Amino acid sequence: MARYCGGSLILFFVLVLVILSISPSQGFLGTEKKIKSQVFFSPKLVMNPGSVADSYLFDIDFPRGHIGLKAFDAEVVDEAGKPVPLHETYLHHWVVQPYYVRKGSKLPQPEMFRNPESNLDPISDIILVKNGGLCTSVGLRHFFGLGSETRQTSTYLPDPYAIEIGNPEETPDGYDEFKWLLNIHAIDTRGVEDKTGCIECLCHLYNVTIDDYKGGLYCCYDKSQCRVKSGFDNGEKTRSLYFKYTVRWVDWDSSVLPAKVYILDVTDSWKRSEGSIDSQEHICHLEYEVKPCKTNGDECIDVKKKSLMMPFNGYIVYATAHQHAGGIGGALYRENGEGICTSMPKYGNGDEPGNEAGYIVGMSSCYPADPVKVSYGETLKLEFNYSNEVGHTGVMGLFYIFVAQQLPEPNNSLPKLFEVPARSLSFLAILAVTVVVAFVVLIAAVIYRRQNQEDGYQSLST
Ligand SMILES: *[C@@H]1O[C@H](CO)[C@@H](O)[C@H](O)[C@H]1NC(C)=O
Ligand SMILES: *[C@@H]1O[C@H](CO)[C@@H](O)[C@H](O)[C@H]1NC(C)=O
Ligand SMILES: *[C@@H]1O[C@H](CO)[C@@H](O)[C@H](O)[C@H]1NC(C)=O
Repeated sequence: MARYCGGSLILFFVLVLVILSISPSQGFLGTEKKIKSQVFFSPKLVMNPGSVADSYLFDIDFPRGHIGLKAFDAEVVDEAGKPVPLHETYLHHWVVQPYYVRKGSKLPQPEMFRNPESNLDPISDIILVKNGGLCTSVGLRHFFGLGSETRQTSTYLPDPYAIEIGNPEETPDGYDEFKWLLNIHAIDTRGVEDKTGCIECLCHLYNVTIDDYKGGLYCCYDKSQCRVKSGFDNGEKTRSLYFKYTVRWVDWDSSVLPAKVYILDVTDSWKRSEGSIDSQEHICHLEYEVKPCKTNGDECIDVKKKSLMMPFNGYIVYATAHQHAGGIGGALYRENGEGICTSMPKYGNGDEPGNEAGYIVGMSSCYPADPVKVSYGETLKLEFNYSNEVGHTGVMGLFYIFVAQQLPEPNNSLPKLFEVPARSLSFLAILAVTVVVAFVVLIAAVIYRRQNQEDGYQSLST
């Protein structure tokens, strides 16, 4: 009798332990790992009405080590940490990108690297780490990057995927660990004559003349100045702003599946030709112009399309588009027209940060329930729509896709047997483990009892 009680007690104890050790947030079998999160602030950007900052900030604060990035969320805040609305400081874009620094080399002074693409000798002191493609030769090399839509666009990479960084085995000989470069382009539109014109970088508003080029990045470079209303009191308006960013990550281990970042650009000039897909050139113009429609009918939509061949085998687990104001949607299709992702802009309708009227404050993201398998050499089609009731300069059409090289082993995880949403998985997992453990403990108890009984008989017989 006493032994029976002991068995039940052990059983109870083990069950409690099991339930405690699998907290719902940790999920099952390590596929949902504990996600860490930290908030960082960039060095300050000093802005005046009409001023432009296009800063390349080297060695920004970032989580170190061999980790898997899960998300990068950001916003612009003032000295008090208060979010700054887009109608005061327009966030044209920001991008983050890792790089290696040669051991013993002096760290570059940020001012020396206004534009790393023209000033750096990439072979000697710095190796920029590029994303998977496709426009890595012309400035779309980053891992994360958005613009005005930053506050309401999800960058989260679902479990069990993450972007692997800082793998010590991949560090080139003679180079130190990863550092991160942040390029942030912001335009202070307080008191400007033409807010829309300033954020679309209309050259004449910046007193810049470049042939037939009406507007775009070449006219709103670092320290350029957009025209401010005459009589606008410019004194005392200088302020310091910060790029506040929240990084979420997991420590790397074999339960995390690596995903790579690819950026597809609707202005890519790539053309199908003979030869290997990997070696084919992608000239990406990044920006394009939308001319106003001639008819003032209801069909004033500019549709821009591009077919691109994919240089990878993998599974799309996340996708989102990037558009500028005037954008009315972007989509990614297979060659046969089957939809992969439609990403729609969300326009604000108020005054407060995150909901500024007239600005794109978010882009919807796609998390395909079944990751979209893409084969090497397969063609995908991009489609970007802008309203052209009025013309736009310097608009963009990018698709970010996160591509996993492999999917989770289907039989690794018990819950795959049940088609249930992820949220209830951990409960099922607890239940399943509990049943298994209970069973094992029960058998152990029975065996233990039998052995003891046998011992008893033996001792009697001797
Ligand atoms: C642009 O040039 C005009 C004439 O040279 C000058 O009056 C004006 O202040 C300049 N505007 C800006 C924003 O620099
Ligand atoms: C773009 O506009 C065309 C024509 O109106 C429409 O057929 C298509 O569905 C639109 N695509 C997106 C992504 O909104
Ligand atoms: C996984 O399970 C499926 C169906 O239960 C089975 O057909 C398949 O062979 C299993 N795969 C492995 C690798 O065990």
